[in-house]
Amino acid sequence: MMVRDARPEDVRQIEAVMAPAVAAGTVLPRMVRADDFLVAEDPSGALVGVVALAPWSDAVVELGSLVSARPGRGLGALLVAAAVQEAARRGYTNIVALTGISGFFERLGFLSVADRPWARARGCATLPVPEFPALGEAVANKARRCAACPRLAGCGQDLLVRRLPLAHPLAAQKVA
Ligand SMILES: CC(C)(COP(=O)(O)OP(=O)(O)OC[C@H]1O[C@@H](n2cnc3c(N)ncnc32)[C@H](O)[C@@H]1OP(=O)(O)O)[C@@H](O)C(=O)NCCC(=O)NCCS
Repeated sequence: MMVRDARPEDVRQIEAVMAPAVAAGTVLPRMVRADDFLVAEDPSGALVGVVALAPWSDAVVELGSLVSARPGRGLGALLVAAAVQEAARRGYTNIVALTGISGFFERLGFLSVADRPWARARGCATLPVPEFPALGEAVANKARRCAACPRLAGCGQDLLVRRLPLAHPLAAQKVA
């Protein structure tokens, strides 16, 4: 199994991998742009898992659209590890996930925090999270987008965050 950057020709397969999770409501529908995704490819060349990265600020990036078509074999964890590594390589300091499966992410080193963007967008008071100083601005940015989302009223996802290792400047170039 290999995880790699998605290519433009992968878009239809990415949509196909996501389709059952979108239909089940566990992943939001979205316009798929290859630049946003990492994909897991099996030895036959079929895509069997996807994950996307979407910036909330210069410091914080969201891991989203995580789908494994081979559940229970470690593929979900592998995709999260690849997204974490790629986010660090791009120079972000924190990675976040808005999710209904907080336990899955906690097992992978993420911490649940109470400053949720949908709550801010609904006008609720939220507590800053001093352990993650970069989070406040990022959540505010995301909350502005949540405010325009037709699903805002029904949103109740947990926010999880994980610190990223500092990227070494020489690591900014990928090794082939
Ligand atoms: C969540 C998901 C990506 C996990 O993929 P996976 O390949 O099964 O992941 P792994 O094999 O690394 O981990 C499996 C573990 O995750 C747990 N897990 C899977 N789905 C879960 C869920 N909905 N809630 C809580 N835990 C879950 C399993 O119980 C399993 O735990 P175990 O090892 O103790 O049995 C996959 O189930 C999926 O695509 N789900 C539908 C889309 C989705 O919910 N995406 C996450 C949105 S943030």
